[in-house]
Amino acid sequence: MYGMVNRAVEEMVLRHYDAATWEKIKAQAGVEEDAFISNDAYPDAMTYQLVTAASDCLDLPAEQILEAFGEHWILVTAQEGYGAMMDAGGRSLPEFLRNLPGFHARVSLIYPNLKPPRFQVSDLTGTSLHLHYFSHRPGLQPFVVGLIRGLAIRFATDVSIDVVASREQGADHDEFLVTWPAAERL
Ligand code: HEM
Repeated sequence: MYGMVNRAVEEMVLRHYDAATWEKIKAQAGVEEDAFISNDAYPDAMTYQLVTAASDCLDLPAEQILEAFGEHWILVTAQEGYGAMMDAGGRSLPEFLRNLPGFHARVSLIYPNLKPPRFQVSDLTGTSLHLHYFSHRPGLQPFVVGLIRGLAIRFATDVSIDVVASREQGADHDEFLVTWPAAERL
């Protein structure tokens, strides 16, 4: 994955803990880089190792770290680095989710070697939709839950997220039922 992902993990740890904790996580993950370069590609395994090491060092389940990382990605990384792109993504939670299938096509213009996820939306009603998440990578379902939670915070919307199909349970992709109160702009 692009270095910006590992950088964002580092930034999240520094924000909630300290530099010594981050060094400990890196050492346990076997990562020797002093710093990550946003535009360089790093092996996916490095990111997974960082999450596993953070889980060990902080004594938190990996799912909880991935979910927190999803929120951090929306509220800090994307907002601070790519505010205009986020603004163009939509003006409400449902609008942003409906536009999500096209979102990474724009990110790919900046990062041409991106291996993005694929999203689809179905069963849209005034208060809910189904979000389908297809990925080349395993185990990132909790990250997507955190991303949706981050978007709900961004738009100050109450959200409920139910996993209705899961790759871990044998489905070919993850599917979420996302529900919000009436009165949101579709
Ligand atoms: C401007 C904001 C964003 C940027 C710059 C961005 C960029 C990236 C990058 C660099 C990766 C790693 C993939 C790679 O390096 O090949 C990634 C992965 C991912 N992004 Fe985004 N992204 C943004 C917003 C979003 C949003 C809003 C969502 C969903 C709500 C999202 C969902 C994901 C997911 C789920 C992955 C995991 C990759 C996978 O499943 O294979 N991203 N994104």
